[in-house]
Amino acid sequence: MSSTRNKLIKLLAENKEKYISGQYLSEKLNISRSAIWKHMNELKKDGYEIEGKAKKGYRILSFPNKLSENTISWGLETDWLGKTIIHRESITSTQRLAHELALDGANHGTIVIADEQTKGKGRTDRAWHSEKGKGIWMSIILRPAILPYLAPQLTLLTATVLANVIDSYAKIKPQIKWPNDILIDGKKMAGILTEMQAEQDTVLYVIIGMGININQTKADLPNEISKRATSLQIETEKSWDMLPIIQEIIRTFETKYMHYIDHGFNQVKQTWENYGFRLNERLQIKTGNKLWEGIFLGIAEDGALLAKNENGVIEKVYSGEITWF
Ligand code: BTN
Repeated sequence: MSSTRNKLIKLLAENKEKYISGQYLSEKLNISRSAIWKHMNELKKDGYEIEGKAKKGYRILSFPNKLSENTISWGLETDWLGKTIIHRESITSTQRLAHELALDGANHGTIVIADEQTKGKGRTDRAWHSEKGKGIWMSIILRPAILPYLAPQLTLLTATVLANVIDSYAKIKPQIKWPNDILIDGKKMAGILTEMQAEQDTVLYVIIGMGININQTKADLPNEISKRATSLQIETEKSWDMLPIIQEIIRTFETKYMHYIDHGFNQVKQTWENYGFRLNERLQIKTGNKLWEGIFLGIAEDGALLAKNENGVIEKVYSGEITWF
């Protein structure tokens, strides 16, 4: 992969609505204007729609809507995340292939992504609808040097990544519903499935699966979920190029993950609570046979939900059914 090409795509993407002159690009990239012209032609062949105007320069009109290892890698510029990207047009589940690859020794930071999943998997073995080209269906293989009991922190970290990207990129403030749902206006737009293989005190690998509804219309959502689910298109009333969103998720993930590994969970906790759904409100919790009510206070260091019970005691909840009033 040419790093010049990477830089060129990044410059075009950062100036999406504006023209950039050939002179500026040639100075920035330290190559001739005719080399810039050749790169532009290569990009066009890859599906980038680029307008070139005399005296004004180049402007990107649209990114290829066709995902591939190449189109995702170009302009990404991460240090380790997405150095290997496996893209499939159709797959049963990216999560399943990610497990196979991880067991085969795939590197930390390998990404599996598909246009369509025929057997997308949600939490608690529910099906995850993953129609062709309608959303981001992606799994990340991680080999974190953390204790297995801390792995739920990675789900919360991923939720903050998605919330940050939706907020900054689409200018919509989402909410995070503990532990793994991204909501807009109370409807689910994305979900995260974290699966781990561990041995005693060692994490062998973690797979972070994320399903993000992008371009579904109301009619695309199956009846049984349309009351509870939404997509970026439904919320913003326009369709979105998925490629730059995918790249922004990968970049943000790498940055936040490194901060988490170097400095701990505090930043994730703060961001999470900034987006936390119904913080300080009453909730009902069902854990096993126990049903109780409390006030939702936020999340603990280990990723547990914190709730104050009727006696004023703060309890930690690791799993269970949560209902808000
Ligand atoms: C949830 O139930 O909220 C979690 C949904 C996770 C779906 C994603 S899509 C990519 C990856 N592959 C799967 O089969 N599932 C996850």
